Amino acid sequence: QTVYQKDYAAPDYLVETVELSFDLDPDLTRVVSRLKIRSNHDRAGGVRPLVLDGEELTLVSLKLDGVELEPYRYQAGEGTLTVNDPPESFVLEVTTEISPKANTALSGLYASGPMLCTQCEAEGFRRITYFTDRPDVMAVYTVTLRADKSSCPVLLANGNLVEKGDLPDGRHFATWHDPFKKPSYLFAVVAGDLAHIPGSFTTMSGRQVNLEIYVEEKNRGKCDHALRSLIEAMRWDEEQFGREYDLDTYMVVAVDDFNMGAMENKGLNVFNSRYVLASPETATDDDYQAIEEVIGHEYFHNWTGNRITCRDWFQLSLKEGLTIFRDQEFSADMQSRPVKRIADVRLLRSSQFPEDAGPLAHPVRPDSYVEINNFYSMTVYHKGGEVIRMLQTLLGREAFRAGMDLYFERHDGQAVRVDEFVQAMADAGKRDLSQFMRWYNQSGTPVLTVSDDFEPASGVYTLTVTQSCPPTPGQPEKEPFHIPLAMGLLDRQGRELPLQLEGEKSPGATTRVLELRQETQSFRFTGVGSKPVPSLLRNFSAPVKLVYPYSEDDLTLLMTSDSDPFVRWEAGQVQAVQLIMGLVREIQAERAPAVPETFIRSFATLLTDKRQDRAFLAEALTLPTESYLAEQMEVIDPAAIREARELVRTTVGERLREELVAAREACAPKSPYHPDDGLAGCRRLKNLCLSYLMAPGSREAVGMAMEQFRGADNMTDSLGALATLAGCDCPERDEALEAFYRKWRDDRGVIDKWFSLQATSRLPQTLDRVLELLEHPDFDIRNPNRVRSLVGAFSQANQVRFHDAEGRGYRFLGDQILRLNGINPQIAARMLTPFSRWRRFDAGRQELMKKELERILAEPDLARDVYELAAKSL
Ligand code: ARG
Ligand code: ZN
Repeated sequence: QTVYQKDYAAPDYLVETVELSFDLDPDLTRVVSRLKIRSNHDRAGGVRPLVLDGEELTLVSLKLDGVELEPYRYQAGEGTLTVNDPPESFVLEVTTEISPKANTALSGLYASGPMLCTQCEAEGFRRITYFTDRPDVMAVYTVTLRADKSSCPVLLANGNLVEKGDLPDGRHFATWHDPFKKPSYLFAVVAGDLAHIPGSFTTMSGRQVNLEIYVEEKNRGKCDHALRSLIEAMRWDEEQFGREYDLDTYMVVAVDDFNMGAMENKGLNVFNSRYVLASPETATDDDYQAIEEVIGHEYFHNWTGNRITCRDWFQLSLKEGLTIFRDQEFSADMQSRPVKRIADVRLLRSSQFPEDAGPLAHPVRPDSYVEINNFYSMTVYHKGGEVIRMLQTLLGREAFRAGMDLYFERHDGQAVRVDEFVQAMADAGKRDLSQFMRWYNQSGTPVLTVSDDFEPASGVYTLTVTQSCPPTPGQPEKEPFHIPLAMGLLDRQGRELPLQLEGEKSPGATTRVLELRQETQSFRFTGVGSKPVPSLLRNFSAPVKLVYPYSEDDLTLLMTSDSDPFVRWEAGQVQAVQLIMGLVREIQAERAPAVPETFIRSFATLLTDKRQDRAFLAEALTLPTESYLAEQMEVIDPAAIREARELVRTTVGERLREELVAAREACAPKSPYHPDDGLAGCRRLKNLCLSYLMAPGSREAVGMAMEQFRGADNMTDSLGALATLAGCDCPERDEALEAFYRKWRDDRGVIDKWFSLQATSRLPQTLDRVLELLEHPDFDIRNPNRVRSLVGAFSQANQVRFHDAEGRGYRFLGDQILRLNGINPQIAARMLTPFSRWRRFDAGRQELMKKELERILAEPDLARDVYELAAKSL
């Protein structure tokens, strides 16, 4: 069942053209596929059979060069259709029937509300028709859709519309042609009664592109931001990478039932509606930001993914890591670059580092898989994005851009490996990147242990860096990585020193990228007057953990004086981690923990600093998450972490009441909300202040929250208030939640928020409430967003309640995974993540979590997706 990278072989047959015709109907859709096929192997050594992939298909007819194949010429097996002894080149016509409505896995052609749509990545096309469903088989597609005209007035497929017209019996048709060769995973069709929001973009060469966003009629008014983001993305890719769009039309369709975020199908993106729809009343600043990011991401795939695609699925990061990097850079240019970088690092550390440290750790380019959908992971996407960023850091922006140009020039129209990408970078940058390739092949998060030495007599300051990487599944030993370590030196007054490495002529810049290649390396800086404070890993130049024995004073100096915003933020986070972990130890030893005065004072200093950017300040004043704190513990103690972190929040809320109120008032809105008013940082800070004020649970604070909740003209403020109320043991809590539900019951996206607020409440009775919500008429196990908002939110974002010592949280999750297994295996598998961390907990919790994994594995009809993750986790 396991697929290995080393077993890759070129396809035996290639498909040149695909002509598809669909008689669309939610209950029974008939698909006729005419494939022009040509042999791709040396037939002198024997003619190989043609093996097509197919799942959940009813085969109706099979013709070769127009003649119905006799049964002995083919076999329909488990997941395949084999045609024996085919000629050198031929036309195969396959007719199959499928049932979109019964397709609850949401892979292939399925129904979402009133419409039909497809999701083919990674292996969904084989659920539509028999095909060589692998990315290195690229073909030109022509697609005809036929459907009932009144229920499906809109018929869309990839490429350009070539013809449309009416048919008898109230039906109609549309024919689409995509001139670009593409792998089957980029195929898409959509049919339904959809409103269409038009826009247009003129490319750098002066071509006009029609932009079309398709949504259900009721959502017509919620598309402006997506459209604007698309235009920004198109312009940005031209300016930053010289990449122009290549078809006459770019379509985006929003669907409510979607397994992932969105899909980059050629010319016809299909999106989870949460990444399209927004209005000030229903979407938060974060939602607006996420839409911009995902719209950008899918658009950027047109070049990094579609024009140049992956040879096989082991190369997934070739397109995903690179496109994540591109969307991060896009967002950084649209918003605040430092704040975006901090958010990206937070995400990497809270989700990818734990993955890399657990039983599901895998390299950015995995060696094997059972189910490829399980490898659409934080590692492949986000660590993969960091790997690209490191290339840019090592080569410098200019050479990196030249490398990108070379990559496009060499490989446009091809399906390639990661190696081809890195080779283009190596050639453009004139660098040897062979050691760098280890980032793709070795899993685990490297640790950099740094020590230093200052010799006052000679003025030499020496930094010694040792790298190591813990063992991960299948990789007990690691070879050293090639790591860019960006750094600077500060004197005690916080001034940046010009950096002069021994043996170099003149002092250089104040930031340098040291290149680590060996296990231990020393760097000697000359002309240093007094012992400096090292500012390390500027801009988080590598996805590593850094160990250096900073003193309190060092951290304060970096926090207030370093030129690098990431380092300033990080210094504060390190202080907060040290503080909270100290409190955790006190709590565990049953001593009375107390928050030291120094912490309160430095918090106050930051809070009242008028010069700082509000958004940055909000990041700096946000304590590390419970899950990040958990990562710092040998044996995770969820209750103690919760208590310690809450103690800090309560103390800040009590001691700095006036400062918090003032900071909050300074951020009070002066004009009606607009998502692009540049005040998102202000709103974040304001809501953060409110949450600190609410921590001690005073009546006064509850009053402020209720006032904000009632008066808000936008979802950011409304939800900010409701979130703190949801965690408060006060009568207003239910009142507010109830009012919110009544107001928004017809808006799916908002009701998702309503579910997750309750699921992530730290109140002791949360699990009981979650069980009640499972029975709520608006809970729908078939809708992935709803599952994520309740089951996912509770188990992944409510550590203290999920890790209930009696194991009730675990049993709940086990039950839901088993339920989802038969409905939507991809979503079931996604829900398993919390169980994969079982080794990090105490013996009692370990037993309880293992029991759930065993219970899941005992299920007789376990989907491959769930089986792989559960088995590897145990
Ligand atoms: N390529 C899409 C994106 O990142 C993700 C689609 C993955 N879908 C899946 N079912 N594995 O933009
Ligand atoms: Zn992607």
